Amino acid sequence: MYRVVTPQTDAELDAYYLLRWELLRKPFNLPLGSERDEYDTVSLHRMMLTPEGRPVAVGRLFIGGDEAQIRFMAIQPEFRGLGLGSLMVEDLEELARQENVKRLVMNARQEAVEFYRKCGFLEVGGGPMTLGHIPHRQMIKSLTPLQTIRYRSEWCQDLATRWSRGIPMCDRMGINITHYDGQTFHLTANLAANQNVHDTMFAGSAYGMCVLAGWGLIWLQLKEVGLVGDTVLEEGNIRYYRQIDEYPEARVAREGLPAVLMPLRGGEAARFGLAIQLYSGDKLAAEFTGHYVVQPVRKI
Ligand SMILES: CC(C)(COP(=O)(O)OP(=O)(O)OC[C@H]1O[C@@H](n2cnc3c(N)ncnc32)[C@H](O)[C@@H]1OP(=O)(O)O)[C@@H](O)C(=O)NCCC(=O)NCCS
Repeated sequence: MYRVVTPQTDAELDAYYLLRWELLRKPFNLPLGSERDEYDTVSLHRMMLTPEGRPVAVGRLFIGGDEAQIRFMAIQPEFRGLGLGSLMVEDLEELARQENVKRLVMNARQEAVEFYRKCGFLEVGGGPMTLGHIPHRQMIKSLTPLQTIRYRSEWCQDLATRWSRGIPMCDRMGINITHYDGQTFHLTANLAANQNVHDTMFAGSAYGMCVLAGWGLIWLQLKEVGLVGDTVLEEGNIRYYRQIDEYPEARVAREGLPAVLMPLRGGEAARFGLAIQLYSGDKLAAEFTGHYVVQPVRKI
């Protein structure tokens, strides 16, 4: 089992900085010492250890108010591609959440951009040319306020992770789960990431938000009743009432949901409609009716 730890003793800190130098500075013929900067004393440092206690990864988080920057992230070459990088990002993200950080920012090396995309970061522009000649891209990740969801927050977290991993579009759209109380479910999207040429929300993104909201509520309700199923949208109709130029939020209520899922208990598909409202700020902007089908998988 790999462990992420905070290097604390002199020996641990020496091992941490040495690995940072070996992975991130030595390849560019930079001297020992070049792996440190003036923010180290006020940053949070993380190091990953193999089951035998060998350090194989490093990462640093610097928190400045609402925002935190990930820097000095690297995995030993022979341990790459095993999921350790994602684990390190998750760990740093968790630290940031605990400190109520709203946004993670970073300058990613061009060759690591795809990795950070998979971790939910959005590319927002050019970054500095550091280490002489390496192009970087500026990337951000808005942190979902999941800690504000008291009811089933771990399920909401699980759902957000599934979307992030399984539907890459969710991260591009900046989808965030903002509310679940067992009855109603809300999610938001980043307006800037979904704008059309009129600087309002692209109609396709609005539709996508509604589809996800319905899907997400069904996933949570299946868990509530102890069932699993494969959910697909069979038909969807949306009526747009006004442009979306403020905080977009999709809201859906469970209405008769637990009851209509019951055919799954007998091994049959459940078919039903859900009404989803889409708001622009506090104004109703669209209504979506989705007909979903949940196919039985297995009982738990
Ligand atoms: C970038 C780095 C941290 C990734 O760590 P890792 O442990 O190999 O990443 P993971 O195994 O967790 O990969 C997670 C996903 O990202 C993908 N991925 C990882 N590195 C990638 C890359 N360079 N290009 C494209 N995809 C990449 C993986 O294939 C995996 O995809 P999957 O979930 O679809 O299977 C690591 O390669 C590294 O240390 N690179 C050198 C230092 C560096 O560039 N640091 C970043 C400085 S900004």
